[in-house]
Amino acid sequence: MIAKKIAIFASGSGSNTQSIIEYFQQKENIEIALIMCNKSNAFVVQRAQKLGVKCIVFNSETFKNNLGFLDILSKYEVNWIVLAGFLLKIPEYIIEDFQGKIINIHPALLPKYGGKGMYGMNVHRSVIENNETESGISIHYVNKNYDEGKMIFQASCAINAGDSPEDLANKIRLLEHQHYPKVIEETIKNSTQ
Ligand code: GAR
Repeated sequence: MIAKKIAIFASGSGSNTQSIIEYFQQKENIEIALIMCNKSNAFVVQRAQKLGVKCIVFNSETFKNNLGFLDILSKYEVNWIVLAGFLLKIPEYIIEDFQGKIINIHPALLPKYGGKGMYGMNVHRSVIENNETESGISIHYVNKNYDEGKMIFQASCAINAGDSPEDLANKIRLLEHQHYPKVIEETIKNSTQ
């Protein structure tokens, strides 16, 4: 069987990127072909280097207007795209080229706390400000609207009285690392495409 190849798109610290890379290092049939990052100073760039995975930093023009962007993905024979803390909106040309093969993780229980601007700590701050008693993670397919693609998996965690946004971020990070790699694996294995 020919291995499926994933490109991870990331913009930040890259803790999910690391957990996904480490998980698939032990697996056959699915491999992380490269990391695509839109910020040269993002910590994910250093993580990728340490883990020995190719990381390409690109600018937003290249991305928005496909100035060779799809050519890079095709050079690395990418079949699937996994978003892991990626800040930019995915342009339609990528959605069309990777129909049903783009997965995102969101650090809240969608449809609550989704949409533009809802990223990382902004999400956790809003959840705590609204006195929610639970939050969680949502893993979903990506379509052209932020955070609105078909849901694949959700898991929740309790918020205790006095929890800060940072406390919640730590709980969410644990849930993400626990579930995201496995859900990616299952989704790709179950795909008929
Ligand atoms: C993760 O919590 C991820 O769910 C979130 O950014 C964080 C990235 O952390 N993504 C979004 O908020 C997307 N709207 P990481 O860089 O350590 O993986």
